[in-house]
Amino acid sequence: MDASINTPSHGGQVFKASMRAQWDTAAAGWNAHTADIRAWLQEPTDAMCRMAGVRPGARVLDVAAGAGDQTLAIAQAVGAQGHVLATDLSPAIVALARNNAARAGFAQVETRVADGEDLDVPEASFDAAVCRLGLMFFPDPLQGLREMHRALRPGGGVCTMVFSRPEKNPCLTILMSTALKHAGLPARDPFIAGGLLSLGQPGRIDALFRSAGFHGVATSALDAVFRLPSVDHYLAFVRGSASPILQILAGLDAAAAEAAWHEVRERLMVFTTPDGWAGPNELLLTAGRRPKEAT
Ligand SMILES: C[S@@+](CC[C@H](N)C(=O)[O-])C[C@H]1O[C@@H](n2cnc3c(N)ncnc32)[C@H](O)[C@@H]1O
Repeated sequence: MDASINTPSHGGQVFKASMRAQWDTAAAGWNAHTADIRAWLQEPTDAMCRMAGVRPGARVLDVAAGAGDQTLAIAQAVGAQGHVLATDLSPAIVALARNNAARAGFAQVETRVADGEDLDVPEASFDAAVCRLGLMFFPDPLQGLREMHRALRPGGGVCTMVFSRPEKNPCLTILMSTALKHAGLPARDPFIAGGLLSLGQPGRIDALFRSAGFHGVATSALDAVFRLPSVDHYLAFVRGSASPILQILAGLDAAAAEAAWHEVRERLMVFTTPDGWAGPNELLLTAGRRPKEAT
């Protein structure tokens, strides 16, 4: 995405409209890959819920919930006496989350279309808040964290999951560098606001948590290898998601785009093992709590 559209002068609204459109388009693809995503993120998701303080009977806010995979895990954990509000910018993906929760029989799940930077939920109305692989897409992640802080009751906990540094997420850097090369575009700053790796710079997310008013802030890095039967399964996942490279390659003619995909495939083949394809990723889980006393 073009950094020039992401300026405070218009509150990132153009950026967000583009993000919403991309996720509306990608909603069905993301939902179709739920089983793969669940297997990939199961362990970090369990840790995220633990670190946020998700427990039976809790009221939990799920920000940038997507098609609701982690929402269902939270609904299971809070039980029928608890409550989960799953929110997302994309109406199409929220509709899928709603259907998924209804099909699973979770009456404790409520869904709502909402910008994570402007949640419109009552002050101090949740015991815990989570955001799985969403906060890095916010043009103003500090505002997103302030909203979660406001939504939490004093003493309530938050935990977010984002990608860490570029060197630890080589599949993402291969995708981006190959797409930019084929599009004849210069390399981009991986930490630019709103990008996939934007919160991966060491210390950055902790500083944002503290600025938002959270106490007891701590980040853990977790290896999360994406295991799939083959590189082609990973490419199908990428092509069905809202990867930023889709936008970059959209400007190329069909033959040039195919050449780019071909090179991406060749480069990603290095992660093929005797047991299938295993793409390394590192995630950051950051936890904090709204202090009991007012800040
Ligand atoms: C990679 S998906 C993750 C979805 C889900 N949490 C999961 O892990 O399956 C990123 C999600 O962030 C949402 N998103 C991006 N910017 C947002 C914003 N400003 N406010 C709320 N949601 C946003 C997208 O619509 C998308 O559903």
